[in-house]
Amino acid sequence: MSAPFTSPNIEGKPIVPRWQRPPTTQADLDWATLHTIDLSLLDSPDEDVVRDLVELTKTAIREDGFLFLTNYGVSLEQLQRQFDLAQYLHRNISDDDKQRLLWDPSSGRFAGWKQQWGWKREAGEFDGIEQFNFYRGEIENRDRVPDCILPFMDEITAFCDYLTGSVNRRLLTLLSRVLELPDNYLWDHIQSQDSTVGDGYFRHALFHPLLGEDKKRRKSVRMYGHTDYGTTTLLFSVPVTALHIWSKQDRWQPVKYNPGALVVNLGEALEIVSGGHFKATKHKVTDTPADQEEFERLSLVLFNASKGDMRLMPAVESPLLQREGFVMEQGVFQQYKKLIDAGIPVPTNKQWREIQISTRSQVAPEEKSGGVQEIGGVKFGVDEFLGVKVLLPV
Ligand SMILES: [Fe+2]
Repeated sequence: MSAPFTSPNIEGKPIVPRWQRPPTTQADLDWATLHTIDLSLLDSPDEDVVRDLVELTKTAIREDGFLFLTNYGVSLEQLQRQFDLAQYLHRNISDDDKQRLLWDPSSGRFAGWKQQWGWKREAGEFDGIEQFNFYRGEIENRDRVPDCILPFMDEITAFCDYLTGSVNRRLLTLLSRVLELPDNYLWDHIQSQDSTVGDGYFRHALFHPLLGEDKKRRKSVRMYGHTDYGTTTLLFSVPVTALHIWSKQDRWQPVKYNPGALVVNLGEALEIVSGGHFKATKHKVTDTPADQEEFERLSLVLFNASKGDMRLMPAVESPLLQREGFVMEQGVFQQYKKLIDAGIPVPTNKQWREIQISTRSQVAPEEKSGGVQEIGGVKFGVDEFLGVKVLLPV
């Protein structure tokens, strides 16, 4: 059996006020219908149960690229504590620390503190999103996190360790089985894992309400549509509705609150390795339904990364790929395949994520290098990085 998460002792630490969970929306929305994967079933001694779990996972990642993960080993109370800590960081980070730890996306990384004015180091237009991003450096060096969070870094590190080393590892086992490859295939060959968060990062995000003129100016979008670069993204479901996914019906649909569940989406690395069988699904963050517009949205996310020096190729040794071939339906795999077929080296994973973070992170569709183009009745923002075309629905 997989061991559940054990939190470090909190005795003797400063008092951390409890995060109050905002009420759920009463709005009747066109919700995305996602499958739920009970991760504890992976430990079942009943082979049929495990086989059904792998089949359900296969359906979820081929149809949606998003799924709810439950029973992954973290209790509701342990999760509450991590939200308490994220709120504490945002409420108590000093102005000096905001300057000292201000991020610099031109470096190709989001490490440190994001202010509420856009996605560059320099302040741009107001977007109302604050973040603190814990990369390897922030986890390992006590001088790279806000002073206020120092007494709690053991808890944050232990939580990240569990999410990467247990939850993500078990998830990658499931996904390896879908590819009919050995259990450790994706963990050993693709996952960056040489520290607590590898080349990935853990994010404490705080979305302040977006109202009035700011809401109008941003056309209700908080974060533009995108796919994630890495292996898996683990997002803890929150009551304030804002996450939308580009569904199999070719439209944006919001994801409903599922208390305690992880909302998992697959990144581009897994789409490429799986030869297009796994979908790196596009998603965006919008404003909230009217009955939630006064509430802050606190969000915890772990972005798991692929190994930086790899140039990704489809895992042609997969019996699934050998039997069924590639799936040429969408996204980055199709674009990588063009380069591979032409004998042109694809970017390394490090180059691929850093060029996007450092140049055109969260750029509006109409400001992308290829502007907005209509293809098959759908409008896409079009960009190109390192010879790879990127199309994202508006
Ligand atoms: Fe994302």
